[in-house]
Amino acid sequence: MNQKIEEILAAISDLRANTEKEIEELRIKYLGKKGEVTALFEEFRNVLPEQKREFGQKLNVLKNAVQSKIESLKENIAETGAVKSSCDLTKPGDRMELGSRHPISITREEIISIFHKFGYTVAEGPEIEDDWHVFGALNFPPEHPARDMQDTFFIHANDGNPVLLRTHTSSVQVRVMEKMDLPIRVLCPGRVFRNEAISARAHCIFHQVEGLYIDKGVSFADLKQAVLLFAREMFGEETEIRLRPSYFPFTEPSAEVDVSCNICKGKGCNICKGTGWLEIMGCGMVDPNVLEASGIDSKIYSGFAFGMGIERIAMLKWQVKDLRHYFENDVRFLRQFETVI
Ligand code: DAH
Repeated sequence: MNQKIEEILAAISDLRANTEKEIEELRIKYLGKKGEVTALFEEFRNVLPEQKREFGQKLNVLKNAVQSKIESLKENIAETGAVKSSCDLTKPGDRMELGSRHPISITREEIISIFHKFGYTVAEGPEIEDDWHVFGALNFPPEHPARDMQDTFFIHANDGNPVLLRTHTSSVQVRVMEKMDLPIRVLCPGRVFRNEAISARAHCIFHQVEGLYIDKGVSFADLKQAVLLFAREMFGEETEIRLRPSYFPFTEPSAEVDVSCNICKGKGCNICKGTGWLEIMGCGMVDPNVLEASGIDSKIYSGFAFGMGIERIAMLKWQVKDLRHYFENDVRFLRQFETVI
């Protein structure tokens, strides 16, 4: 009898019912004339007199538990017959912590979407590279200082060939030229690594976007036009560009691109250090040696390439003065970009 009482007590705590009918069925199952609890009361007659007190109490507890369970099931049924939720649906909800996109991702996507309009697709390459793709195929002479331990993180050597972390995403343009059919119009975003001391202006990990356009008859004027359109989309319609002659082993001629400072409108301020101009990228016509190294006939094809640092573009866009903010992931910094789509 004791065992039966325990069983019923355990069973009723899990009882569920969706309709009045189901509740009535449960009531009959336990408390009806032939119900399980009623049957126990019948049995109670045969209990030894000295045990009557103990079992009597237990049976009453059981009966009360079944009755109150049935009452609470009834309360849970709304007039419509639907189950009332145990939570109050009229209460205001808990605030959901929304994440926000990282400013570097926002900037990368914006750069990609601008060039997407000009027909550029996206290509990616490995972060762990070999010497050929980072330097050799890009016309870096063997003694070039960029290959130096001071700049490059070398991992190990594979049969005498250094394996290293790429120092720029120009390595991806080599991989694209090796594989893709011509003409090529591609953007290569990605993480790059340099052995630099971390400061407000430098970090050992940062992000670049490389651009490459190769076709028949591509000229420096095309490069200038692409850069101008990009600068105006990114920094505003009024933006002007200025190209300064420069040197990169993989482009000839090469240039560095400045945009007019849209904070002071070219008058000079502390962001542009009084010059009215801000440097945004390097670019140039792909050196014929680079085309040939990847198996492209430089007598038929020409092209331009450009490369920019995403952190730099994002710093100019939001006037972030310290590069380290991008890597520390302090939510007070990141939350400021919640509303930027
Ligand atoms: N790879 C260069 C760097 O990391 C950036 C660059 C300059 C890329 C000129 C280019 C280019 O494609 O034409 O500093």
